[in-house]
Amino acid sequence: MDMAAIGATEKGGNCRLAASDEDKAGRDLFVNWAKKAGCEIIIDHIGNIFAKRLGQNNKAPSIMTGSHLDTQPTGGRFDGVLGVLAGLEIINTLNDHQIKTKVPIEIVCWTNEEGSRFSPAMMGSGVFAGIFSLDEIKNKEDNNGKKLGEELSRIGYSGASIEKQKLSNYFELHIEQGPILENTKKTIGVVTAAQGQRWYEVIITGQESHAGPTPMSLRKDALVGASKIVQEVNRIGNFYAPLACATVGVLDVSPNSRNVIPGKVFLTCDFRHPNDKILTKMDRDLKKFCESIKVEQNLEIDLIDFWYSPPVNFNEDCIRSVRDAANYLNYSFSDIVSGAGHDAVYISKIAPAAMIFVPCENGISHNEIENASPEDCAAGTNVLLHAILNSIK
Ligand code: HGY
Ligand code: MN
Ligand code: MN
Repeated sequence: MDMAAIGATEKGGNCRLAASDEDKAGRDLFVNWAKKAGCEIIIDHIGNIFAKRLGQNNKAPSIMTGSHLDTQPTGGRFDGVLGVLAGLEIINTLNDHQIKTKVPIEIVCWTNEEGSRFSPAMMGSGVFAGIFSLDEIKNKEDNNGKKLGEELSRIGYSGASIEKQKLSNYFELHIEQGPILENTKKTIGVVTAAQGQRWYEVIITGQESHAGPTPMSLRKDALVGASKIVQEVNRIGNFYAPLACATVGVLDVSPNSRNVIPGKVFLTCDFRHPNDKILTKMDRDLKKFCESIKVEQNLEIDLIDFWYSPPVNFNEDCIRSVRDAANYLNYSFSDIVSGAGHDAVYISKIAPAAMIFVPCENGISHNEIENASPEDCAAGTNVLLHAILNSIK
């Protein structure tokens, strides 16, 4: 809740956009807490924060846990934060019990997981895992032309590149951000996989002209074309339901004046599905539709493949460590596939990884009213602690 006071919004949520002053304040608070817990702090070249608790053998690869502190513009108090602060809670608990683990434990705060101010998502973990190039990501710009790399330097979180450190396992605790655990009355989600995502940018170009004298038959109305595309995105999501998801989150109309026929529309599309073949079918359907709208509406349509994150299966041994921990602690649990993207998706490319979910109220997230109970957060943290201890060979 002290973290939630940073970037607090009036409806009780959080706004700490990546590399903003609020993000800096949240990072500083976390670093202070981690230092108080005796951790060594390393900042890498894309602003990822590594808080390392030494073990008996510090040449051995660390076990990592963490998530993100950046939020959506109207985000909640638990998305990402739970995973970072649960890591801190584990360190404090091991300290309280004077337990020195065989290998080091590192809590990670990944830069720009949300992909809201700077897109795409999961940038810090993506650079760390070698998915994205450092330069490409540092040069990503926000809507005001600010570059991520410059903003990280401005807030004091642009460190040196760190040699590709071996990590033995990665666990991430996160709220589910959907309704399944709550509806099935399960305390713990044993996350076995994460669905794939395809993000697009679509620029629809028609012709601005006067809303009065221009006959309907002569118009090239970019917003009419865009609205048909919005409907089609929704149709595709429903056609491949129940597992498909399809969202148009951004829609910019220009010149956005009451009596001018819109000449240009920019929109984004977010497709998701756990099965890559279906995700490809959704991709194909959207592209086919845009081609037909070009002709039907006499518009130019530029459909850009903006980002593709294939579905991932997490590591069986790590999943077993989570399941055994939930069992040992007598929590109700069930397997679940993540609907959201998480840093664990990219880290699973370079190390065995798995995730733990806890319910959030009414499954609501990416919303200021996002809420999770202290009991469920404690349960998730306990499972995280024991999954980590279980996985130390
Ligand atoms: O979009 C996502 O799934 C995540 O919240 N960045
Ligand atoms: Mn998140
Ligand atoms: Mn999120």
